[in-house]
Amino acid sequence: MTGNNLAIVVLAAGQGTRMRSRLPKVLHPIGGRPLVGHVLTTAARLGADHIEVVVRHERDQVVAALREDYPQAVFVDQDEVPGTGRAVQVAIDALPDDFEGDVLVLSGDCPLADADTLRSFLDAHRAAEAAATLMTAVVDDPNGYGRVIRDAEGNVDRIVEQKDATDDEAAVREINAGMYAFRIGVLREYLPTVGVDNAQGEMYLTDVPGMLRRDGSRVAASVVSDVTVTYGVNDRAQLAEVGRLLNARIVRRWQLEGVTIIDPATTWIDDDATLAPDVTILPNTHILRATVIAEGAIIGPDTTLVDCEVGEDAIVRRTDATLAVIGAEATVGPFSFLRPGTVLGAKGKIGAYVETKNAEIGEGSKVPHLSYVGDATIGRGVNLGASTITANYDDVNKHRTEIGDEVHTGSHTVLVAPVKLGAGAKTAAGAVVRKDVPAGALAMSVAPQRNIEGWVEKNRAGTGAADAAAREHSAE
Ligand code: UD1
Ligand code: CA
Repeated sequence: MTGNNLAIVVLAAGQGTRMRSRLPKVLHPIGGRPLVGHVLTTAARLGADHIEVVVRHERDQVVAALREDYPQAVFVDQDEVPGTGRAVQVAIDALPDDFEGDVLVLSGDCPLADADTLRSFLDAHRAAEAAATLMTAVVDDPNGYGRVIRDAEGNVDRIVEQKDATDDEAAVREINAGMYAFRIGVLREYLPTVGVDNAQGEMYLTDVPGMLRRDGSRVAASVVSDVTVTYGVNDRAQLAEVGRLLNARIVRRWQLEGVTIIDPATTWIDDDATLAPDVTILPNTHILRATVIAEGAIIGPDTTLVDCEVGEDAIVRRTDATLAVIGAEATVGPFSFLRPGTVLGAKGKIGAYVETKNAEIGEGSKVPHLSYVGDATIGRGVNLGASTITANYDDVNKHRTEIGDEVHTGSHTVLVAPVKLGAGAKTAAGAVVRKDVPAGALAMSVAPQRNIEGWVEKNRAGTGAADAAAREHSAE
């Protein structure tokens, strides 16, 4: 069965020198995935018969970053011949010989072209019955892009790269977006004849339109009205700009779905996150990766959630959480640190200056202040007193703490794991609990208090403390 006679070629072999980075350019992330990941996500939506990614620079790293998330993508290696023309040539050579149809060429560094834009671009190409169609845009600052040179009748004549452009050509503000639709036959015929006689010594894909025109073939141009869809990332300033535009788009999408976002400029939402209607996001909040937030939850200000699940009507403020589950109507923060494996039950509470990790905290249970809870299972209706600590690590191994329903610990309790507190047990303030506590027992480990009368006046004579004590004594 053939789909829609469409092959998509994504160019991702370049080094990205202008990024000045160890990381290949196309792997720099925005919105929670690599630049090229956005292009592949869009490509997958178009329903192509073939999706090819051309790789070369750090190819293993690029392939490893994409293989799992984009199983339909076939990776094709570019050889030592440089340039976008060569990249497309190796890609079409890897297509089945009997493939007939159109090749949509996309750049791994242009992540903002959405599926709707590309679908209408492709429709325009097919309707025009053109040999090739270019996506172009008229921009204020064409710096860095290839310029679209038109003839006296206004038809596309050729593309000239900035480095090869005369001053007059460089002044043209219509740019080549680097996205093209070609009939496959055109590429099979023309790419082998593209040379490297240019300022960069590369095989330019952008030579093909000019060659087609000289042979009398039809080259169409589709001028996009929203120029941002054409924005490419060549340096870190553009990375930030394109990241901001993507985020603005995501924020707006959720606003139209019924999410209140108080301050779009300081709210960052990854493309994979999901927010329900009537969620409220307060300023300076990052909703990252596959975080899911249920109806009515209030998140922020100053909160970062990475791969978290937040239940209905929960409140999470000034919190940093990764791979945590927060139950319905639970409250978290301010100043809480939830590490992976934290599961807070419905109506539970994790309060100020509390750190949790691999901790299941049952329904309605509270860890309100200054605690560390790691490798613990906590039942329902539990209250851990201020500064209760699970001492889970003995310098060699990590051990678990188990706490039954309705346990209350006194302030400053240290639970030395492995240890188990039965249902309804209590600990006294300052207890260091090394042995299991049976259900309903009170654990005390601190020696009874002894007061040595007159110690300060005798041993610290002349100090402020001794004088104050003497005054209080004489007043008695
Ligand atoms: C390219 C276009 C330019 C256009 C711009 C749009 C050419 C010659 N120029 O310039 O007209 O305005 O895109 O953004 O095509 N790549 C390979 N193999 C290579 C070289 C590059 O796969 O040998 C990939 C890169 O990884 C990148 C894409 O092709 O994803 C574009 O390469 P880049 O070097 O960024 O081209 P530009 O200079 O931006
Ligand atoms: Ca580029």
